[in-house]
Amino acid sequence: MSLTDLNLSGKVAIVTGGSQGIGKAISLALARCGTDVCIADIDPDLGKEVATEIKALGQKSTVLPVDVTDSGQVANMVEKAIETYGRIDILVNNAGGASGANFRLGRVLRIKERDWDETIAVNLKSVFLVTQAVAKTMLDQKKGCIINIASITGLFPFAGMPAYSAAKAAVINLTKSLAMEFAPHIRVNAIAPGLIDTPRTIKNRTPEQMKHLLSNILRGRTGKPEEVADLAVYLASDAAEWVTGSILEIHGGQTWLAEWGQPDFRDAPKS
Ligand SMILES: NC(=O)c1ccc[n+]([C@@H]2O[C@H](COP(=O)([O-])OP(=O)(O)OC[C@H]3O[C@@H](n4cnc5c(N)ncnc54)[C@H](O)[C@@H]3O)[C@@H](O)[C@H]2O)c1
Repeated sequence: MSLTDLNLSGKVAIVTGGSQGIGKAISLALARCGTDVCIADIDPDLGKEVATEIKALGQKSTVLPVDVTDSGQVANMVEKAIETYGRIDILVNNAGGASGANFRLGRVLRIKERDWDETIAVNLKSVFLVTQAVAKTMLDQKKGCIINIASITGLFPFAGMPAYSAAKAAVINLTKSLAMEFAPHIRVNAIAPGLIDTPRTIKNRTPEQMKHLLSNILRGRTGKPEEVADLAVYLASDAAEWVTGSILEIHGGQTWLAEWGQPDFRDAPKS
């Protein structure tokens, strides 16, 4: 059962981090419902493959190379999207993550200032920058929808991930501020996923860590990017016209109390 029968035809979306993982699944799901999609990503080569898939579905798609932590690049990206499509109906602030050094050196006593800053920039500042650049157009249209991809770590922190958890908690709070500021014209919501099966999720964890994490998920498996995408399509649709300032959790029953015993990631293999 999928929600992708919802009709979003005629709409234009920007999906940050749309080249792979959850962002790719959201881009394809929106396109299946009739949306033209701008893929705004730091990795345009991967994005081109997604754009080709979207075009095969009969929708337009443009890859917009951007580092979402850089205000100048963000302004250019949004300008190009408006130049090409004339409007923006849906913004999905998805780019982010807790990969690489930020992931391994996560503990407060070990994290380097640079890693802290990078984690906050890609997960939190990016949401502010892209939203600021897009919101004026949506307010002029008197309609728009913003979806922020947060994380359940923003609701309860994971061991060894203080910077990422703090950034995602701030995204959840910012979502509510934005919903207030842009009401009644722009709806702003967040999705807080649990462990989703994307390449970086597996790459950054040992088999033992994966086993431990799965034992804390009531449904006994990781989530699929497409399952997060279904929620995004719902939020973007008119079916969610009365939904704003909300945080939709999707985690298969990932139980936070058990996370207290979760191993931290000091010994994760180098990526
Ligand atoms: N995978 C999970 O288990 C999980 C769980 C909860 C929340 N999330 C969140 O979902 C979002 C997507 O996660 P994912 O697992 O699909 O990640 P991913 O690493 O598979 O994909 C992230 C995408 O963002 C792009 N990106 C990274 N930095 C960028 C930058 N500075 N500018 C522009 N693009 C950039 C990457 O090129 C990539 O295409 C993230 O915000 C992540 O924090 C993921």
